[in-house]
Amino acid sequence: MGCTTSMEGATMTPRTPTTTPAGAAGTTGADRTTGTNHTSDTNHTSDTNHTASGGGTVAAAAPAGLTLDRHVDPADRAVNLARDVLTGLTANPRELPPKWFYDATGGMLFDEITRLPEYYPTRRERAILDGHAGAIAAACAADTLVELGSGTSEKTRLLLEALRAGGGLRRFVAFDVDETTLAQAGRGLITAYPDLAVHAVVGDFERHLAHLPGGGRRLIAFLGGTIGNMRPAQRGAFLRALREQCGATDALLLGTDLVKDPDRLVAAYDDGAGVTAAFNRNVLTVINRELGADFDIRGFAHVACWNAADSWIEMRLRAVRDQRVTIDSLALEIEFERGEDLLTEISTKFTRDGISAELADAGWAVAHQWTDPEGDFAVTLATPSTSPSAAPV
Ligand code: AVJ
Repeated sequence: MGCTTSMEGATMTPRTPTTTPAGAAGTTGADRTTGTNHTSDTNHTSDTNHTASGGGTVAAAAPAGLTLDRHVDPADRAVNLARDVLTGLTANPRELPPKWFYDATGGMLFDEITRLPEYYPTRRERAILDGHAGAIAAACAADTLVELGSGTSEKTRLLLEALRAGGGLRRFVAFDVDETTLAQAGRGLITAYPDLAVHAVVGDFERHLAHLPGGGRRLIAFLGGTIGNMRPAQRGAFLRALREQCGATDALLLGTDLVKDPDRLVAAYDDGAGVTAAFNRNVLTVINRELGADFDIRGFAHVACWNAADSWIEMRLRAVRDQRVTIDSLALEIEFERGEDLLTEISTKFTRDGISAELADAGWAVAHQWTDPEGDFAVTLATPSTSPSAAPV
């Protein structure tokens, strides 16, 4: 396996983010979708935003046209983080899910990653959308754009513009696990597109897909290559679950990074400025703060490896010496031996045929597939197959 290790940034002091104001939520306007069919794992819905006081939050007024549904609140977050950390750190080999990188600091670091010379995926995907947003809009004629893991909704604007130019755009649904990012992005979009109904959904796309607002002709965008963070079985389950939520007139737009020279792949995940190293270590800071742990982040080196057999990049944190970590909230003490790895992320690199085959298995038919001129990244438009039940399970 091709790996690089770096200690740059190991002495960086992570910025402590301010407490998330979970109350930047509200429900106003005529486009409000009521929180029906919510299952019992939903503690706060659009119906309870104004009384989401369990965490000591204060509901702020949302701009007209913004709806917010909350399927993940700070209490769920704490429970889920505790469960993932307990499972992952007592497993052999040790592993943590990548979603815990993205607190306020992690989001900022990821933003910085997207601007690094070595990290090509964001630029390539943007170039593809820049060149083909019109064709995408024409092919799906959607009135609703749904973005999964929307983050700052930056690339979304290219799609929104194209759909608007087509004349049919009515609604934007942003689905993300981070409420602060969502609320900010939502406000920005409402200002930029006053006629657009913006529906923000705070949720985990592996658990809350059933709560995606329905109706209309939807284009569901899952960009950035984030599907590559899932293992094959997880991807299959996710794509099938999404297919089940979709009607005949819905479409899926999927962004995926492609296999290429391993040196370029590894460099993209081990940049010279050490930003990815800081991003990787940030997960330890999150655990320290939210679970009362005492990880010494200088005790772990950032490692990026190309796993050719599985066709994915692995990011790991490698203990630079023997150490013991205490996690108060879990009443857990764990030992790391020098050289021991903690797997923090896989980022799968696909082939065009592989993407089509996985989609077909999950009940999706590829309508179009675009790549950038260098063939670094792919954006695939797929529609539900006529007979989803015929899809192999
Ligand atoms: C946004 C999840 C697709 O896997 O390339 C960037 C995250 N990790 N650098 C990726 C990431 C390290 C990124 N995704």
